[in-house]
Amino acid sequence: MKVMVVGGGGREHAIIKKLKENKEITEIFALPGNGGMQKDATLVNIGAKDIDAQVEFAKANGIDYAVVAPDDPLVLGAVDALTEAGVPCFGPNKNAAIIEGSKVFSKNLMKKYNIPTAQYEVFSNKDDALKYLETAPIPTVIKADGLALGKGVIIAETREAAMDAVVSMMEDKVFGDSGSNIVIEEFLTGPEVSVLSFTDGKTVVPMVSSMDHKRALDGDKGLNTGGMGTIAPNPYYTEDIAKECMETIFLPTIKAMNAEGRTFKGCLYFGLMLTPNGPKVIEYNCRFGDPETQVVLPLLESDLFTIMKATTDGTLDKTEVKFKKGAAACVVMASNGYPQKYESGFELKIDDSVADKVYVAGAKLDNGVLKTAGGRVLGVTDTADDLKTALRKAYENVSKVHFENAFYRKDIGAKALKGE
Ligand code: AMP
Ligand code: GLY
Repeated sequence: MKVMVVGGGGREHAIIKKLKENKEITEIFALPGNGGMQKDATLVNIGAKDIDAQVEFAKANGIDYAVVAPDDPLVLGAVDALTEAGVPCFGPNKNAAIIEGSKVFSKNLMKKYNIPTAQYEVFSNKDDALKYLETAPIPTVIKADGLALGKGVIIAETREAAMDAVVSMMEDKVFGDSGSNIVIEEFLTGPEVSVLSFTDGKTVVPMVSSMDHKRALDGDKGLNTGGMGTIAPNPYYTEDIAKECMETIFLPTIKAMNAEGRTFKGCLYFGLMLTPNGPKVIEYNCRFGDPETQVVLPLLESDLFTIMKATTDGTLDKTEVKFKKGAAACVVMASNGYPQKYESGFELKIDDSVADKVYVAGAKLDNGVLKTAGGRVLGVTDTADDLKTALRKAYENVSKVHFENAFYRKDIGAKALKGE
C-alpha cells in the first residue's frame, strides 16, 4: 500500500512514524514534509495547499490512501478532490471542515443544538461591534471568523484593548478576509483540555486527553504560539468529566453535523475549558492538534492505519482503538524570537539515541546538511508509566538535540503535575 500524507510539520511527522508500524504500507510520501523526515518518508515538493498537484501526484503514483492533516487543505476541499479522483482519504470534506473554518458557523451550530460554549455575539459591521463593547463584560474575547494561522483570537483585558482588536480585525484587516466577520464572546476560566477524537460520522471515539502550552514563555507568559509543549493524559480530565463530555458535547456535535448535512469523518478536535459551570467548547478543529498529536499517538496501542481506514469506511464501531496506560510529554524546541522574528539556517544535530522520539517541524536539507527552517523547529518527546518520569525523560532527550539559538520552555507539565 502506498500512502501519502499532506502537510509538513511535527504533527505530520508523528502521524508518519505511527503509520510506519503498519506492515501493509510499503511507502509513505510526505507532501511536502520537511528535511527532518527524510528517514521516514519520501519527500515530494508539493505544497499542502496545492490540491490540484496533490491529485495529479496521487493518480500518477498509484496512491492507495491519503491523509490530509492540516486545516488549510481540509477547508479548501482537498479530501473532496482526492476522493473524487478515486483516492480514499482520512479527513473531513470541505462542508464538514467548516466546523474549524468558520467560527461563526461553529458558534451558531452549538447554539442551535444546545452544546455548551461561551455566550457570544456575531458582528459583520465594525460600528455595531464597537457599540456592543461599550457595555460588554470585560475581559472579553474577540475572534476572527476564518482561519488565521492560529492567531485570530484576542483576549482583551480592558475595553480599550477590545475595541483596538475589533478595529485591527475589521478595519485594518490584520487577518485579511478572516476578520470580515467576528465573534465577541464571554471570557471563560478553568483548566483547558484538548480531546482529539476519531469519528466516521456515526461513532465517536475520543483519544487520550492532552494539555497544550500555548504561551511562549515559562509561567504561561509571553505571546500565544502554535504550542510550546504538551502532556497526556490531562489530569484535570477525570472519568466523570469524560462521560459528561461524551453526553453533552461529543455525541451531540456528531449528530448536529449529520443533521446539517455535513457528516464529519476523520479527527475532530474538541478544545474544552472545564469551567465552574461544567465543560464548555472553546474551539473545534477539523484535524489532529499540533503538538497534541506528538503525545497522543505515542500512547496509541492499536494500529493507526486500520483506525483511519475505518473512519473512511464507516466501520469505526467494529475497530479496536486502545491506548497504553502511562503518560507522554513533548517539549517544543523553537528558534529564539519565535513567534516573532527569528533567525534560521543553523545546523541541527539530533543524537541517534533520541531520533525516534523527535518530531521535526521546521527543518530543511541544505546540501545534505539538516538545518533549522522555522519558528517551531521540533518536538522532543518520551513516554513512561507516569507523567513525572515522562517529563524527566523528555527533558533529558532535549539535551541530546543541538542547534544555535534554540529556546524551549522549562515548565512543560508543571501545571499538570499540580493537577494530579
Ligand atoms: P485558539 O487560537 O482558538 O486556540 O484560542 C487560543 C486560546 O485562547 C485558547 O487556547 C484559550 O486559552 C483562549 N480562549 C479562547 N476562547 C476563550 C474564551 N471564551 N475564554 C477564555 N479563553 C479563551
Ligand atoms: N495545539 C492547538 C492546535 O492544534 O490547534
